[in-house]
Amino acid sequence: MNISIIAKNGSPKSFMTLHEDPEKLHIGTLPDHAYFIPFANGQDAFAQREDSQRFELLNGEWDFTYFDSIIDMPDEFISQEDAAKTPVPSNWQLHGYDKAQYTNVCYPIPFDPPYVPDDIPVGVYGRCYIYKPDGLRKTLCFEGVDSCFYLYVNGEFAGYSQVSHHTSEFDITDLLHEGENRITAAVLKWCDGTYLEDQDKFRLSGIFRDVYVLSRPEKRIENYHITADSDGRLCVSVQGADAKLRLYDGDIMLCEGDVPGGDTFEYTVEGVKLWSAESPYLYRLEIETDTELIGERVGFRRIGITDGVLKLNGRHIKLFGVNRHDSYPDTGYYADREKMRRDLTMMKRHNINAVRTSHYPNAPELYAMCDELGLYVIDEADIESHGCVNVYNDLKWSCENGYNGIAMIAGDPQFRTAILDRERLLVARDINRPSVIFWSLGNESGYGENFRKAAKLIKQLDSTRPVHYESTHKLDDTPDDVLDMVSEMYTSIDDIRKFLAREDEKRPFVLCEYCHAMGNGPGDLEDYHDLFMESERLIGGLVWEWADHAVILGYTEDGKPKYGYGGDSGERHNDGNFCMDALCYPDRTPHTGLYEVKQVYRPVRVTRCAEPGKFVINSLLRFIDAGEFLDCKWEITYDGGKASEGSFTFSVPPMGSAEIMIPEAVEEFETDAYIRFIFTAKNGYSAFEDGEEVCFDQIKIFTAKKEASPLPKTAPAFSETPLEYRVTVGNAEYVFDRRTARFTGICVNGENILAKPMEYNFFRAPVDNDTMKGDWYSAHLNDYIVKVYETAICEDNNCAVIRVKQSFGWSIHQPFAKMTAEYRIDGNGALDVSCSADFSNKVEILPRFGLRLFVPKKYNSVEYYGYGEHESYIDKHQASYIGNFSAKIADMHEDYIRPQENGSHYGCTRMTVLGENAALTFTNPDGFSFSASEYTQEELAAKKHNFELEKCEYNVICADFEMAGVGSAACGPALSEKYRIKLPTVRGEIKITPKG
Ligand code: GAL
Ligand code: MG
Repeated sequence: MNISIIAKNGSPKSFMTLHEDPEKLHIGTLPDHAYFIPFANGQDAFAQREDSQRFELLNGEWDFTYFDSIIDMPDEFISQEDAAKTPVPSNWQLHGYDKAQYTNVCYPIPFDPPYVPDDIPVGVYGRCYIYKPDGLRKTLCFEGVDSCFYLYVNGEFAGYSQVSHHTSEFDITDLLHEGENRITAAVLKWCDGTYLEDQDKFRLSGIFRDVYVLSRPEKRIENYHITADSDGRLCVSVQGADAKLRLYDGDIMLCEGDVPGGDTFEYTVEGVKLWSAESPYLYRLEIETDTELIGERVGFRRIGITDGVLKLNGRHIKLFGVNRHDSYPDTGYYADREKMRRDLTMMKRHNINAVRTSHYPNAPELYAMCDELGLYVIDEADIESHGCVNVYNDLKWSCENGYNGIAMIAGDPQFRTAILDRERLLVARDINRPSVIFWSLGNESGYGENFRKAAKLIKQLDSTRPVHYESTHKLDDTPDDVLDMVSEMYTSIDDIRKFLAREDEKRPFVLCEYCHAMGNGPGDLEDYHDLFMESERLIGGLVWEWADHAVILGYTEDGKPKYGYGGDSGERHNDGNFCMDALCYPDRTPHTGLYEVKQVYRPVRVTRCAEPGKFVINSLLRFIDAGEFLDCKWEITYDGGKASEGSFTFSVPPMGSAEIMIPEAVEEFETDAYIRFIFTAKNGYSAFEDGEEVCFDQIKIFTAKKEASPLPKTAPAFSETPLEYRVTVGNAEYVFDRRTARFTGICVNGENILAKPMEYNFFRAPVDNDTMKGDWYSAHLNDYIVKVYETAICEDNNCAVIRVKQSFGWSIHQPFAKMTAEYRIDGNGALDVSCSADFSNKVEILPRFGLRLFVPKKYNSVEYYGYGEHESYIDKHQASYIGNFSAKIADMHEDYIRPQENGSHYGCTRMTVLGENAALTFTNPDGFSFSASEYTQEELAAKKHNFELEKCEYNVICADFEMAGVGSAACGPALSEKYRIKLPTVRGEIKITPKG
C-alpha cells in the first residue's frame, strides 16, 4: 500500500514511500567516510569518545510508540502524546513489543521484492534535543537501525536511511532552533533492504546501536585514508580542510607535517615495528585542523596473497578463527564497549586469532579493539539473501537450478544499487583499520553480476586487501575470478584434499565456517587443524560460531535466566534451537567446545623424540619467540599420583622448534605414565593474565604391562532357582534375575547399591549433531524389550559364572541386537562383565554400548582416572588430559540449553562411585567412558529447555564400553567413521568391584 495515498498530504507520514524503492537508500545523509570522532584542539584525541567535547551521546530512555501496522499509525505521529519509554539502543521485541522471531534461511516475509507486507510494524522513537548555537554544525549519527528509518526534526522531514548495520549521519543544524528541539525517528521493521538482510539470527528491530551528535566546524576534515605498509611507508590522504599531521611512537613524535586538503602526506618510519595479531603494535597519528583534533592508531602491515599463499608481512599466516554475531539475551543486537571487549578478550584468551563479523559490519569501535588486542578481522558487508533458495513455491531448496536458486538476487539488476551501496559503506567506514585483513562481500547470497561488480568496486576503493566471498552458487556463468580466495563452509576434509589436488585452481582456500559448535561438540577440530597444517594454501578456518543466540523468557526461582530460542515467542515460522550453535552460552560462559578450541589453537605443541627423555617444542607463532611469552611447567603422573615435576624457560624462534631434556621421563612405573607440559603466560602474552594457563601437551611416556592379578583358589558360593541366581562372596552378594537377564542386586554388607536392575544401554539423549536420531527411535534403542533365550550358572576356574543369550528389540521389527554375555564373579567379589552383541543393519550409527546403573542418591561422588576434568568424548578430548580426578555428581552436568547427552569421560581405566558405606569401582585397562548424572537420558531427551529438567530420584551411572563421537553434523560432514562404534559386532568388557 502506497502510504502517500492514505496519509494526509504534507503530513510527516506522507513522506514514507522510500522503503519500497530499492534505488532510494539514503536521503539527506552525509557522504560515507572513514569512522572517526573529532575532539577539540588541546584535548586527548585518544581518549574514549564520550570525553570529546564534540561528542554528545543520545543513548538513554526515548519516547516510544509502537504500531503493529504502519497503516494504523496516525498521520501526525510525531506528537507522540501517550508515548511510553524505551531504552536506546535496544530492540523493541525485548521490551514488550512485537515478537522475537528466529528464522535461519527462510525470509520472515513473503518474497515479493521490492515490496514488503502492507502491515509493517513501526516503532516511533522521540526525544528532546537541546541546541545551543555555538557556530558548529550538528551531525546526528545513528550507528545501527533495523531495518530503516524516517527522521524528522521538529516535525520536518530530515532524511531517510536503510542498511541496518551501518552508520547514517545527518546534518540537522538548519532544522534546529535554540533550546528544545524534537528528534523523531520512525523505524520500520521491513523495507526492500530486508531481502538483503536474511542473516541467520533473531529478527529484531529498532535503534540498536549508539546515537550521538557530533559538533563540527563548517570547514573540516571530511575523510582520510591511511596506508601503513610493512616497509614503514605511511601515506595519509586527507579530504576537506588543511591539516597538520603528527606521528608518534609511544610518546615520541616521529614526524610532523602540513597537508593541504585533497593532498597526501607521506613519511617512512625507519626500523618500523610491525602490526600482527601476535604483536599488535600501534603508532599514534594526530590529524589536526584549526578547530578539530582527530586521533588515529596506525598499524604497519602488509596483507596479500603470493603464489596461492596468504601472507602477512611476508610470512604465511593461518586463521584460527571464530564467527561472531552481535547477539545478547538482554540487549539483543546491542553490544556496548564492555560487551565487545569481553568477547574479544575472551577470544584472545582462548588462542583465537581471527574473527569474521558474520554477517554484517559490527559497531565501529569493535575494530579499534581488534587493532589493539590483535585479532585478524574478516569484515563482512551487510548482505545475505539466503532465503532465495526457498522462494520457488515447490517447497524444496530448489527449482530447476537446485541450490543455485540462492543466487536469484545476485544477478538481479533491481538489487545492484543496493548491493554496491552496502559494499561501499563497508569499505568506506573501516578502511583505516589494520586489523581488517579481508573484505567479505556478504554471506550466502549466491553469485552473479552484482557480486562481480561488488568485488571490482571494492578493489577500486582499496587495493591493499584481498576480497573474500563464500557464496559461489550461481544461476549463470558469471566468472568468479575477482575473488582472491576460494572460501567454503563445512567442507569435509576429503573434499578439501581434493581441492588441493586440483590443477586448475591456484587460489588459497579458507573455511569461513567449520566445526559447527552446536550443543555438545564440535568433535572434529583437531582433524581440521592437522589438515590446515598440511599446506600453505590453506588459510585456516573460523568456527561457527561464538555465542548462542537467545532471548530471556523469565527467571527460575533461584534467579537463573530461562533462555528461549526459536518458537518460544510464538513466532509463526521459526527454526527452533538452530541459533544455539556456539562456543559460548548466551551469557558468554564457555561451552566445553570453547576449551577444545583453546587447546587445538594452542601456540606451541610438544612432541616426543626417539631419544629417551627428549622432547621438542614446536612453535606455531609467526612473529614472536614463544619462549619470551610463555613459561613451561611439567609434571609426570600415573594412576595414583604425581611422580615428579619441574619447570624451565626456553626460546623458540617463530615457526621454529626447541629441544628439551627431561631425564625423569625415562623412569619405569607400575601403571601407564604421562608427562604434561603446561604453558603459562608471561610478559603480557595475548590477553592472558601473567601466570594464566595458555595450553598444555600431554604425552604418554610409559606403558605398563597388563597382568591379571592371581585369583583366590576358592570360588564364590552360588544358588539358583528358576527365576534367580544368587552369588555370595565375603560381604558381597549378587542377585541376578533370570527372567530379564539383569542384576537386581549388587549388595555390600546387606545394602543393595542398585536402586534398579542394571541394564544394557544403547541410547543417548541425542546431541544436536545426532542427525540420525530418527533411526534410534524407530529401532527403539531407547525403550527396548528383552528376550532371554538362555541363562546358566556354573563354577569355572574358581569363579561363579553366569552365561546368557538374549536379544533386544521392540514390536514390529526383528530384534536390533542379539547378545551373548558372561558374568564372572571371582573369589574377591569382583564381577567381570564380558559380552558381545551383533547389531542388525537397521542401526547405522550406534550412540553407545554400555551398562546403566541407578544408585541411591547417597552415592553422590566419583573418582576416576581418565580424560577430565571437562566432559570428553573420543573426538572431543583435546582440552582434557589423563589424570586422577574426583567430582560431585551434581557438578558433572553440562547445562546445554536444549538438554542433551553430556558429561561423559572418555579413556578411563578406572572409575569409582562413592557412597557413605560402600563404593563401586569399574575398571578396564583398555579404557571405557562413563557418565554420572542426576538426570536420566530419557529426561534429557524429552525436555526442550534446561530449566524444565527434573532430577531423577537416583543418580544415574553409565559405564560405556563405547560411546560414539559427537562430531559436528548439525551443519557439517557426517560423523567420521573413526569416531563411530564399529558395527555390526561389538564387544564389551568391564570389571565391577563393590567394596564395603
Ligand atoms: C551457515 C550460515 C550461518 C549459519 C550456519 C548454521 O550456512 O552462513 O549464518 O546459518 O550455517 O548455523
Ligand atoms: Mg544463512
